[in-house]
Amino acid sequence: MNVLIIGSGGREHALALKIKQSPNLYNLYIMPGNPGTSYIGENVNINPSSQNNVLNFCAEKEIDLVVIGPEQPLVEGLADVLRENKFNVFGPNKAAAQIEASKAFAKEIMEEADVPTADFIEFSAKNYNLAKGYVKEKKYPCVIKADGLAAGKGVFVCNSPDEAEEALKTILLEKTFGESGEKLLVEEFLKGEEASVFAICDGESFVCLPSSQDHKRIGDNDTGKNTGGMGAYAPAPVVTPKMFEEIKNRIFAPTLKTLKKNNKPFIGCLYAGLMITNDGPKVIEFNCRFGDPETQVVLSVIEGDFLRLLYTAAIGDLDKKLVKYNGGASVCVVAASMGYPGSYKKGFEITGLDELPFDIIVYHAGTKKEDEKILTNGGRVLGVTSTIPKYDLTIAKEKAYKAMKKINFENIYYRRDIADRALNY
Ligand code: AMP
Ligand code: GLY
Repeated sequence: MNVLIIGSGGREHALALKIKQSPNLYNLYIMPGNPGTSYIGENVNINPSSQNNVLNFCAEKEIDLVVIGPEQPLVEGLADVLRENKFNVFGPNKAAAQIEASKAFAKEIMEEADVPTADFIEFSAKNYNLAKGYVKEKKYPCVIKADGLAAGKGVFVCNSPDEAEEALKTILLEKTFGESGEKLLVEEFLKGEEASVFAICDGESFVCLPSSQDHKRIGDNDTGKNTGGMGAYAPAPVVTPKMFEEIKNRIFAPTLKTLKKNNKPFIGCLYAGLMITNDGPKVIEFNCRFGDPETQVVLSVIEGDFLRLLYTAAIGDLDKKLVKYNGGASVCVVAASMGYPGSYKKGFEITGLDELPFDIIVYHAGTKKEDEKILTNGGRVLGVTSTIPKYDLTIAKEKAYKAMKKINFENIYYRRDIADRALNY
């Protein structure tokens, strides 16, 4: 198969590496890719938002499968355009991608499907005063979320009416998130342990990959601002086999059935961000794509023909037996630029990448190559990922941090406690 992956982050680097292992692969292209993916396939310098250019490329290279990594092109309808032109796509159409693009839509689907999630109430900009009155009476903490896409920044966990009013202002009055903040949800705060589960879906049936846990806050012990993700590990011990069954039966099965019933069948990776509470699993959010950096660890602990799995999903004939958990453990620690998620400097040379053992893979996220040197070029720069063949997160963690010590660039910052929540669980 000739395969095109859309995207340029650590997630796409991990997808490329896993797809590369398939005996069914012929040519692999990554659009636009990053310096890491340039060693695995051919990077293609086309902006995925230029849908006509993507189409022309697919025709020219006789692409058999397009795997769309990020949410933006999905929400823009890239999968729709490709499908209309008879290409096989792993990634949902625009209508089904609304499950991530609109939190209000996701709640409607969950309500109809009777899927456990936090109680909520919705307000629009014209109801600002009503919203203000409502948060004065609310129990705290509560969570306020912009309806639309906000790169992980549209969620506010509020501990007092003052904090809540601040969040309402930011979203509805100052319109910090633009159109994404036309509406918002005020949500019940869920207590428990978070986990991410990915389901590979063909529009009707699905198969789950091993669970994982992201670390969203910038600081150790989950302090400070929310980020795109500072590290992850897989599998997550909080998702016991029994819990996994509950997640499949109470969350994925009814959600996918309801999407199909509403004429929005979901083909691609449905990502459930979950809170494992005393009352069982509840949905915090759905995403319409693989998570980053969870993909880096989840794909490290599966074996089988991943490319063929995605292909069978894309053609609506999912073969659930193509991949399985390999019994191992994986830990990914993100090396970021000091200052992220606020402002930071870039353009620093990264050293130490050639000195790492075989069980470490460094996924590129915000890097660029210049004169054979790899330079920092973003907030999240690298994902240093260890994988070991047995389920021992203590060893996997040690290996990831040992490797991290060898890597250096000016202003490097990383969390020191990735996987500790599992080790203390
Ligand atoms: P989201 O972008 O919706 O995943 O939210 C980002 C983070 O905010 C989540 O990973 C949680 O840590 C936290 N969060 C969001 N919603 C809730 C909720 N209802 N209860 C508790 N924490 C939440
Ligand atoms: N790891 C969080 C996300 O991909 O949205």
